[in-house]
Amino acid sequence: MLPVRTGTLVTLREIEEADLPLVWEWENDSELGLYLNADPNKRMSMDEVRRRYHQYRTDPTSGMFIICTRDGQAIGMLGFDRLYRDLGTCRLFIGIGLKDYWGHGYGSDAMRVVLGYFFQHITLGKVQLSVYDFNTRAIASYRKCGFEVEGVRRNVAFVQGRWCDSIEMVITVDQYAQVQPIWEKQDSYVPAGESSHEPG
Ligand SMILES: CC(C)(COP(=O)(O)OP(=O)(O)OC[C@H]1O[C@@H](n2cnc3c(N)ncnc32)[C@H](O)[C@@H]1OP(=O)(O)O)[C@@H](O)C(=O)NCCC(=O)NCCS
Repeated sequence: MLPVRTGTLVTLREIEEADLPLVWEWENDSELGLYLNADPNKRMSMDEVRRRYHQYRTDPTSGMFIICTRDGQAIGMLGFDRLYRDLGTCRLFIGIGLKDYWGHGYGSDAMRVVLGYFFQHITLGKVQLSVYDFNTRAIASYRKCGFEVEGVRRNVAFVQGRWCDSIEMVITVDQYAQVQPIWEKQDSYVPAGESSHEPG
């Protein structure tokens, strides 16, 4: 079971069965589909959402947090897979489903919270993600969190009349050690706490 963790704006908790209708809605949203899959027409059945939920709950190399406001409203999801403790790596994806919350710091806060979990709790060496080149808001958010570009995969999808690239971004434990104290010094930043729900 994943621990509940709290940042300045958000709390992250493990996905529960009751979240699945909301996740299904987000997975079938055209704009989120564009940003997450470069495909605004991609649709996901409830069966597929359920299958992935069971995978997250049973496969130790993957998982999903629900991103909530501090007062408990679910606003998005943050998933990971390829969590290989021997290699010290994992891969992330994030989607704020409620669009009113885009551009207000919630995604970056969620990312910082989860990086604390991966680097301080699980002691990974490197966390990676992929982002399409047209997703300038996400790239700005990831850079704020300390991610750097590791490589580019060219022409991975044809979107809205043009080929787009996949930008591969990473943050290493050394980069995290440099940026984390800066976040802590920022006036608005409260160090992420860990609730008593922490599993063994
Ligand atoms: C990507 C995402 C998680 C980022 O979270 P967020 O809360 O919106 O991001 P933040 O507000 O913390 O940071 C966004 C930064 O981009 C800037 N920004 C906002 N809109 C922008 C835009 N259209 N283009 C470029 N930069 C933009 C903001 O100014 C902010 O930087 P600043 O704090 O230095 O001013 C969220 O927007 C989201 O879920 N989007 C839809 C799904 C998605 O794109 N997922 C990522 C797939 S890889």
